[in-house]
Amino acid sequence: MTGMPAVLCTLPLPDPFAERIAGSASLRVMGRIPGRADLCRALLADPVDVLCPQLADVVDVEVLDSGMPSLRGVCVYAVGYNNVDIAAATSRGIAVGHTPGVLTDATADLTMALLLAAARRIVEGDAAVRAGQFRGWEPGYLLGMELRGAVLGIVGFGRIGQAVARRARGFGMRVAAHGHHGVQVPGDLAGSVQIFDSLNRLLEESDVVSLHLPLTEQTRHLIGEGALRRMKPTAILINAARGAVVDEAALVRALREGWIAGCGLDVYEDEPRTAPGLAECRNAVLSPHLGSATVSTRRAMAALTADNALAVLAGRLPLHCVNPEVLERRR
Ligand code: DGY
Repeated sequence: MTGMPAVLCTLPLPDPFAERIAGSASLRVMGRIPGRADLCRALLADPVDVLCPQLADVVDVEVLDSGMPSLRGVCVYAVGYNNVDIAAATSRGIAVGHTPGVLTDATADLTMALLLAAARRIVEGDAAVRAGQFRGWEPGYLLGMELRGAVLGIVGFGRIGQAVARRARGFGMRVAAHGHHGVQVPGDLAGSVQIFDSLNRLLEESDVVSLHLPLTEQTRHLIGEGALRRMKPTAILINAARGAVVDEAALVRALREGWIAGCGLDVYEDEPRTAPGLAECRNAVLSPHLGSATVSTRRAMAALTADNALAVLAGRLPLHCVNPEVLERRR
């Protein structure tokens, strides 16, 4: 294998990643979620051409420098790339790839699962049945929110936000949307999405608020105490985007003190930890970052990550590149 370019994965990726890479590069797999220092050591000890990190691997200046001068690409096994210092990668001539599109449906499905579970209090009911506390049908027992006619406010109206809108229409929900950079409504949703230029208005008027925007310095803690206090006391917050878009400590206070009725979370500020008190909130539905976790989606993400890496090895940009301006840097 000597003389072949090298690709490093932190965790093993599903088929067909390895078979696509074989023949073009030698593949090394750390087999663990490395800390930053661990990842730096691995890159320094054995230089690679492409790094394929997970969404939890921090790829900052120090990590990038540890990969220099051989590192040409960082191909993230995720659509979100907030874990990578893009400016630092660009200035070093390193292209960054990710996996948009292939996980849209799976993530939208999971969003609806959280929405339904929170609206119909499924987790509270499940706990009651298991604890032998279900005493039989009662007219007022565990009443939840009727979805037909309820307003779903979608914050971030990209691929996933739009896919959630389509699903919610099927449940008879009224869909509203707000985007940091405006909202483009695709043809099939034209006329069925109310656009709010003001996030505050969307928060005030929605029965369910669902977050589908990337984590950036502008969106960090976008949903903090101020935003949560604007929501209806009967409203539900859903987050299947990135944990730090929500101030989790403020959310725990909101759930405890009834500023909002409940939440469904797939992501957390400091994964895999959750904010103190969150796990005790019975009105919170909590899943362990499962948005893209279906067999076929994870395979599709693996195939796309391999294709991104192969493009880098062939001297091109990844198929889905977040910093195409890197080409200027290389000239
Ligand atoms: C992503 O790809 O960014 C998702 O969070 C993974 O489930």
